[in-house]
Amino acid sequence: MIQLKSDSEIDGIRTSGHMLAEMFEEIGPQIQAGMSTWDVDKLFHDWMKRHHAGAPCVGYMGYPAATCVSVNDMVIHGIPSKTEILKDGDVVSVDICLEKNGFISDSTHTYEIGHVSPDVHKLNIETEKSLYLGIEAAGKPGARIQDIAAAVSGHCRKFGYGVVRDYCGHGVGFELHEDPEIPNYVSLMNPNPRIRKGMVFAIEPMINMGTYRIKTDPDGWGVRTADGKPACHWEHTVAMTDSGLEILTRI
Ligand code: MF3
Ligand code: CO
Repeated sequence: MIQLKSDSEIDGIRTSGHMLAEMFEEIGPQIQAGMSTWDVDKLFHDWMKRHHAGAPCVGYMGYPAATCVSVNDMVIHGIPSKTEILKDGDVVSVDICLEKNGFISDSTHTYEIGHVSPDVHKLNIETEKSLYLGIEAAGKPGARIQDIAAAVSGHCRKFGYGVVRDYCGHGVGFELHEDPEIPNYVSLMNPNPRIRKGMVFAIEPMINMGTYRIKTDPDGWGVRTADGKPACHWEHTVAMTDSGLEILTRI
């Protein structure tokens, strides 16, 4: 069931989302070669503690960290590790949920460490672009959820990229994962609700350089590309309001 949010509830999610955006702005530039993915998680988690924000990923279905830090062929849900050290040329997504006053926002940025290869840089740029195209499609009058997928996958297909099918965006705000699912690929099998005022959801293209197929690590969390090629991931939480679709995780 889709839980529509009132204006004051959207206000609460906006506060959470703006904090998340501010944190990415402040901490993002500090991510560099030589750090472990655990160090990256700690930078963000400490910021959240300092600002009295909750980290709803901690303990979510047993997840052990505040953030997901996914390097190169890791698409999503990389568990931060003290032994995984970032190096020049890596591409790293940091996926974070933040809770403030009971309201949850969700956003992901992908960072390039030092100099990445031109094809990886392009993958990152086009993945971020596909997020904005998805957001634009969602904001058109009368838009439906699958219009997002059409925009995201239509863009990424042009470059031969694989659009991950096994994981989707989602409603968010009261809980980390709410209805509806927001897939990045179009299917007649998927529900296609109209986007209505009060809907708050996370759009999150997960785009692979090669195949769309993925495999799960033995730890039960890490999701990698099946062919070992790199992947990128960008995510914003958005809300449909009287004045249109608003990005809540951007200042
Ligand atoms: N932020 C992730 C998402 O977009 C949530 C990951 S769940 C966790 O769905 F437990 F792995 F953090
Ligand atoms: Co999400």
